[in-house]
Amino acid sequence: MLYLLCFLYIHMDQTHNNIDLGLQDLVIGKRIYHYKKIKSTQQLAISFAETNINNEHGTVIVADEQDEGIGRGKKKWASPIGGLWMSLIIKPRIEFAKVNIISVISAISVCEAINDISQLKTSIKWPNDILINEKKLAGILIDTNTNNSKNDYIVVGIGINIDVDIPKINLSIASNNILPTKVTSIHNEIKVTNIDRFILMKHLLGKIEFYLSLLEHDKYDTKIIEIYKKLSNTLGKRIIVYHEGLKKYSGIVKDIDNSGGLILERDDKLLEIIYSGEITIREQNDR
Ligand code: BTN
Repeated sequence: MLYLLCFLYIHMDQTHNNIDLGLQDLVIGKRIYHYKKIKSTQQLAISFAETNINNEHGTVIVADEQDEGIGRGKKKWASPIGGLWMSLIIKPRIEFAKVNIISVISAISVCEAINDISQLKTSIKWPNDILINEKKLAGILIDTNTNNSKNDYIVVGIGINIDVDIPKINLSIASNNILPTKVTSIHNEIKVTNIDRFILMKHLLGKIEFYLSLLEHDKYDTKIIEIYKKLSNTLGKRIIVYHEGLKKYSGIVKDIDNSGGLILERDDKLLEIIYSGEITIREQNDR
């Protein structure tokens, strides 16, 4: 706690605090808006990104609780006190074709930050669920506006279950998810209660800054994908691919391409590259 107070400078106003995590010399996390309770950091970050206020590249919105947290596929994301719920505004200086790799960078950054801070060995279920022991610990939501070249942005929403009430979260998932995944939290896995979410956030933002700077140098795309492959729990596995809740096909993941797409050998032996959708991972003989 004392360690945190050394670098945590808070300026109060009516609705939020501006948090200083000592990242002024960096771009990502230079400005952090901290709210106690809002509907959704994602929704607020998108509205900031679309206006001329609080929309600088690297701006972060973080909340203690969200009333209407949003998950992928417009699912509800339970966000009680005890998690890290944040959204990051990125105005990428990269071409449109590389936008998908922001999702890859976010996933490896979240995975590595959790592993470094907690000593857990989490892995990435494609495209960007962070799992431990086959249970979901964190999720990432990417919203983009890249059609209007004047106002291009990507908002990366990150939710990490640090010390949340798992039975409650499971209940809310079961009620709004066609393909429910089991959920866990960092504390549930390591049985300690001293993970500070702002220290985790600082670490995570540093990782994102690092990988984004690599991305600006063309030759590092492959390096980023190599790291993603090492952290992947999907590569080499038999999977079922769903689209809008319906089974599309199954097969074996042969590789991951340079923009994060799954190269799938379907059961009929055709090769398919998948860039979006939901998957479940099966045992090798389980069709
Ligand atoms: C997923 O479905 O796996 C993505 C979950 C993303 C949740 C985060 S929590 C912070 C941000 N605000 C939201 O409303 N959603 C994202």
